[in-house]
Amino acid sequence: MVLFKSFALAALSLTPSAVALPTLSELASRAVSSTQLCGDYANLILPDTPWIVYNMLYNAAQIVGTQCTNYDQVTTSKSGTKEVIWSSVTDIDYVESTNNVPKGYSFVGLTQNLETKLSAIDSIPTDYTWTRTNTTDFKGNICFDFITNDIKGDSTSSSSHELMLWLQYEGGQLPIGWTNGPSATIDDLFGTSWTLYEDVNTDTGITVSTLMPAKQFEGSFSGDLKDWLLALVEVGTFKKSTYVNVGNAGTEFFYGNAVMNATLGLQINLA
Ligand SMILES: *[C@@H]1O[C@H](CO)[C@@H](O)[C@H](O)[C@H]1NC(C)=O
Ligand SMILES: *[C@@H]1O[C@H](CO)[C@@H](O)[C@H](O)[C@H]1NC(C)=O
Repeated sequence: MVLFKSFALAALSLTPSAVALPTLSELASRAVSSTQLCGDYANLILPDTPWIVYNMLYNAAQIVGTQCTNYDQVTTSKSGTKEVIWSSVTDIDYVESTNNVPKGYSFVGLTQNLETKLSAIDSIPTDYTWTRTNTTDFKGNICFDFITNDIKGDSTSSSSHELMLWLQYEGGQLPIGWTNGPSATIDDLFGTSWTLYEDVNTDTGITVSTLMPAKQFEGSFSGDLKDWLLALVEVGTFKKSTYVNVGNAGTEFFYGNAVMNATLGLQINLA
């Protein structure tokens, strides 16, 4: 679950002043410094990219231990697109009473071409590769998380729709709406079939629609995420005229001692 919007504006809020401003090359070199983000909502906008890196510990009060999201660098893929190299380092004790509570979400979020109608989006190409090494039982997943709403820019009111595409999950994590049973099946999407689970997240009041793959992805995924959103239009979750207000890729965590290293390419291309 992810609640944020309009980060692109924050990127522009460099305050002019009479004292020497940093030169562009100084700003560029700042942009490539690797950074550890360990605070409850610590985040880093990456200039000249469509991304923000975020350590979103929305249940920080339930964490016994630490969780950091680390930005490493931006590179260029063989095909010429930008990719961000980042990691999520989880060291959270298993506590019986909160073992079923997600502690937060570590992710790379889009800052560009959001708040656009699905019908005005040409493609959402992504390339997500990851490894996770855990030294104790780990519970959590690797996923994409988008938010749509018929209202442009609204990602928090109950008319919002949160969409999750789980690529991999372990430790017994189950989606919201699991006990209701599947609400649909989607065949032939990204090389596998998917089961849809839906219900309201009682913490946020937002309906969450999670697709779980018949066959989990083992460390890599590529595709056009517009196909995912169109598949949800087909089953009636929303219409092509809905706005895509939030989009990101990340990992949810409940407990465990684990390091996830990842490389992500993700962007929205407008029609
Ligand atoms: C990593 O986590 C998984 C899922 O909880 C568990 O099955 C596995 O044993 C863990 N690995 C180690 C080395 O603890
Ligand atoms: C994972 O990322 C960390 C930095 O957060 C780095 O120190 C470590 O070498 C990386 N591990 C692998 C296997 O790439």
